[in-house]
Amino acid sequence: MFLLSMLAMGVSVCTMEPRHSTAAEGNCQFYGKYFQISYKVEGEPVVLRCPQMEHWLRTSASPHFNVMWHKNGSGVTLPGEEDTRVLVQRGALWILPALQGDSGTYVCTTRNASYCEQMSVELSVVEKSEASLPLISYSQILTLSTSGPLVCPELSDFTRNRTDLNVQWYKDSVLLGQDDKKFLSVKGSPRLLISNVSAEDAGYYSCGMTFVHRGRQYNVTRSVKLRVHKKEAETIPVIVFPHQTILASLGSRLTVPCKVFLGAGTQATTLLWWTANNSHIESAYQEGRVTEGQRQEYSENNENYVEVPLIFDPVTKEDMNTDFQCEVVNTLGFQTLRTTVKEASTFSWEIALAPLLLVFLALGGIWMHERWKHRTGKAYSLTTLKMAREGV
Ligand SMILES: *[C@@H]1O[C@H](CO)[C@@H](O)[C@H](O)[C@H]1NC(C)=O
Ligand SMILES: *[C@@H]1O[C@H](CO)[C@@H](O)[C@H](O)[C@H]1NC(C)=O
Ligand SMILES: *[C@@H]1O[C@H](CO)[C@@H](O)[C@H](O)[C@H]1NC(C)=O
Ligand SMILES: *[C@@H]1O[C@H](CO)[C@@H](O)[C@H](O)[C@H]1NC(C)=O
Ligand SMILES: *[C@@H]1O[C@H](CO)[C@@H](O)[C@H](O)[C@H]1NC(C)=O
Repeated sequence: MFLLSMLAMGVSVCTMEPRHSTAAEGNCQFYGKYFQISYKVEGEPVVLRCPQMEHWLRTSASPHFNVMWHKNGSGVTLPGEEDTRVLVQRGALWILPALQGDSGTYVCTTRNASYCEQMSVELSVVEKSEASLPLISYSQILTLSTSGPLVCPELSDFTRNRTDLNVQWYKDSVLLGQDDKKFLSVKGSPRLLISNVSAEDAGYYSCGMTFVHRGRQYNVTRSVKLRVHKKEAETIPVIVFPHQTILASLGSRLTVPCKVFLGAGTQATTLLWWTANNSHIESAYQEGRVTEGQRQEYSENNENYVEVPLIFDPVTKEDMNTDFQCEVVNTLGFQTLRTTVKEASTFSWEIALAPLLLVFLALGGIWMHERWKHRTGKAYSLTTLKMAREGV
């Protein structure tokens, strides 16, 4: 009965495959290809998980579904009749061992009485070599001068129900963690502890274990690329610009940078933004008249700065009544600076009054000159004498 139903499903998948977008009797929804290509090493066991099932596992509601796999384009449900290397176990597709010819797109179909979903995942089986290391490596990061673990990744399918876990670690073909102060391979776990991480510890590590299936032993290996990061220094951020008032003319475009001084501290952990009447700029100006410009990170004389401009396009009367604040925060400190936009009125009035002032000055000058000419010679010499006495 079970076999019969499996056969029936197989047939329905085969017939459905070339037109899976139409609402056929299968009515299977295709949800696309999994975002990550699975790069695996030739000669080793490979486990492909059904991408849509991973989602159920995370949401913890794992309904009872029938899972089927086929390679895209073949239409044959896996494992095929004479397939001794392939099996489906708990919904996952196992290939023991994988060959380069197994590379391709695999489609996983999950179905219950009323519903059917499909997703695909791409497998690329490569030869283990110097050249393929960047493809098959998992990136991990440790901080300089600290201690931390590397983890041999994606072993869970091979470590289930095992108490004798023995993961070995290599760097440049040297076995690590043997009575060594620097490296400690944690017994029964996939971890390698590295103490006092130095820049020389960066690079490729290889880890692996053996796995026995149906009396045959396989090697499962992984590559880890360790990057060593410097501990980021932080300083309290200080806003050095803008000033409390910004002069602007109505109708013109205005850019007000908020400039933050960090000294030797890193920009990476510094958040910087503007508010208008205590709301974020995007929500205060949904029409986009006032916007935040591109964030800039730079150094001047070995001091670090970060800067975000506020752009008015154009300045309107409303801006004169709005409370603008630049706010900066990192793990050490928080600072805000309030600024107001003022119409540049004094400046324009001066311009307007300047000709008038000149006329007054000229008239005043002529009047003085006339008075001077009518003074007596005595009065004139008295003035000079007085000035000389005062030491002018
Ligand atoms: C399956 O193969 C066909 C033809 O090669 C291609 O058009 C289609 O996009 C593939 N489907 C997936 C899920 O990769
Ligand atoms: C089949 O799965 C769908 C989606 O998870 C669910 O809504 C539906 O109740 C299931 N049907 C049966 C008969 O289990
Ligand atoms: C860590 O290593 C550096 C050089 O790599 C050394 O100078 C320092 O003393 C070491 N620190 C400890 C705690 O071992
Ligand atoms: C597994 O790895 C060991 C050590 O690298 C090697 O000697 C052995 O031949 C490998 N076994 C298989 C089945 O590849
Ligand atoms: C900010 O508040 C002032 C006074 O309450 C108001 O006149 C102005 O329009 C407000 N600005 C924005 C952008 O909402």
